[in-house]
Amino acid sequence: MFEVHTFPVPEDAKERALVTKDQYQEWYKKSVEDPEGFWAEQGKRLDWIKPYSKIKNVNFMVPDVSIKWFEDGTLNASVNCIDRHLAKRGDQVAIIWEGDEPTDDAKITYNELADHVGRLSNVMKAQGVKKGDRVCIYMPMIPEAAYAMLACARIGAVHSIVFGGFSPDSLANRIQDSECKMVITADEGVRGGRKIPLKVNTDKALETCPSVTSVVVVKRTGGDIEWVDGRDIWYEEATEAASPDCPPEEMNAEDPLFILYTSGSTGQPKGVLHTTGGYMVYASMTHQYVFDYHDGDIYWCTADVGWVTGHSYIVYGPLANGATTLMFEGVPNYPDSSRFWQVCDKHQVNTFYTAPTAIRALMREGNGPVTSTSRKSLRLLGSVGEPINPEAWMWYHEVVGDKRCPIVDTWWQTETGGILITPLPGATDLKPGSAALPFFGVQPQIVDNEGEPLEGATEGNLCITESWPGQMRTVYGDHERFMQTYFSTYKGKYFTGDGCRRDEDGYYWITGRVDDVINVSGHRMGTAEVESALVAHDKVAEAAVVGAPHDIKGQGIYAYVTLNAGVEPTDELKKELVQWVRKEIGPIASPDWLQWSPGLPKTRSGKIMRRILRKIAEDEFGNLGDTSTLADPGVVDDLIDNRQNRT
Ligand code: WT7
Repeated sequence: MFEVHTFPVPEDAKERALVTKDQYQEWYKKSVEDPEGFWAEQGKRLDWIKPYSKIKNVNFMVPDVSIKWFEDGTLNASVNCIDRHLAKRGDQVAIIWEGDEPTDDAKITYNELADHVGRLSNVMKAQGVKKGDRVCIYMPMIPEAAYAMLACARIGAVHSIVFGGFSPDSLANRIQDSECKMVITADEGVRGGRKIPLKVNTDKALETCPSVTSVVVVKRTGGDIEWVDGRDIWYEEATEAASPDCPPEEMNAEDPLFILYTSGSTGQPKGVLHTTGGYMVYASMTHQYVFDYHDGDIYWCTADVGWVTGHSYIVYGPLANGATTLMFEGVPNYPDSSRFWQVCDKHQVNTFYTAPTAIRALMREGNGPVTSTSRKSLRLLGSVGEPINPEAWMWYHEVVGDKRCPIVDTWWQTETGGILITPLPGATDLKPGSAALPFFGVQPQIVDNEGEPLEGATEGNLCITESWPGQMRTVYGDHERFMQTYFSTYKGKYFTGDGCRRDEDGYYWITGRVDDVINVSGHRMGTAEVESALVAHDKVAEAAVVGAPHDIKGQGIYAYVTLNAGVEPTDELKKELVQWVRKEIGPIASPDWLQWSPGLPKTRSGKIMRRILRKIAEDEFGNLGDTSTLADPGVVDDLIDNRQNRT
């Protein structure tokens, strides 16, 4: 067992802190004892068109689940991210863009941001996009991705960003589910020196998406693409011709801001719906306090805007706070594994926020690529997306942060809109591997499998008992599924799907998903999605997918595959199936291990015993638990003998 050291708050972090230890205790107490009063005050951090008088209107009880915050207020998110800053900081840099090649970068001021967003808003309106319409954004990490988000917000359109690594099929499914009217994309993306055929993928997807009437294409590489007249529009030409002035749409606090698809334990990805007022209050507040953000700080979150981290902590949170936010197109190891730290030096980054998988991958390259850089500008480090193992935490702290910088290990989810459990850099003593304490207004509860609350130091299932403004409001088009997924397992509580331990100091330690969701390099994958991709292949009879420990990715994808009768199990076919899944879903879903399984362990009623498959994949088959209900216990021995990741 790794010995737990506690790292006290450094003196300089204390000095500059927006929130000290005592203030944290005091404000947290107020936030849970008087949520209405607390959030009424916090709501004022935004500019409202019509101020709210109602604060919170929430019911967590199935079948009446309903979540509303600031419901009679009106505002516009793009005004809060742009217009309201112009008088004071029009010439301040809003976005620092660092391209895939180290020679490629740009700085966009708030004035310039206003101009770009206004023009694109007018282009969208001219194409018939109206308040409430859905717009799909399928983009590389270029400033136009942020312009597209903010232009949607400006005219009241609801954006649905699809990560550029997803396949045409995955893109099509998401466009169809929310019936998007427009797609905003680029000719090609560039990552790690390789091109990503975004327009080709879009064309392919749109063969089955009749709702889309126009496609706006940013010229990123000038690569060869096909053109559909009457549908496709060059971004550069159209925005140049458009006016930069576009009056913002007045939105109700509960009008949708965006949809973001995420994987669950069953079925197709769900369209997580976030609304305007509460989400913006929460994104802005957490960005300010978790990152102890002060005017003038240079802030870098390495996520992609295709994930919620990019929504809340590259675009909406930082821009609402008038921050300078860095947007990086590339990858950590291109041109070499010093890149992150070179970028920190080049742009004098103060706050750096990344995922454990990146840290583990860089750690493997040794200290050299880090220590060859200065990193003197760094003040605070952050981690997100999966549990960070104490070894990686220590390396991040000692080597990257020169033992100076606190690390905020931030736990949250696509559904939560913003960070829920986290240290605050000037207030919280740190324990490597623990996400520490709840943010203001967040009331975690650990329950047993029957839903009984567990007190004190304990371990169980993590629920949140009260709403917070950034919470998702529904699954797009399927409120029933929303209630079923999050509020029916434990009555009247939001169930996170995570397991969690609480120690004697009240610190929370997230232990990972307790459902059939796996977390591969911080990317969320439903085992059911990978299974359905596999069985869609005409040689596959049956497939079962589980997560298994992976040194770099945290979890890898382990697939058990039963072939149709008469099909030869060859290495070529294995490769073909891995390729097939990449093509069906995207590279992030590629199985890391694939095992031929003439039979799967099933109960007599035919249910696959996934618990057993998980144990075998974890190489813990000495401890399979109760196997007495298996229809054919013999299959287990075969699976153990042929396991693919033995250590
Ligand atoms: C799941 C949510 C939140 C943005 C990125 C992922 C895991 C997230 C942590 C953390 C341990 C974490 C959980 C959660 N997770 N952050 N700091 N420590 N686990 O968003 O794709 O919605 O995934 O990621 O299992 O449920 P997401």
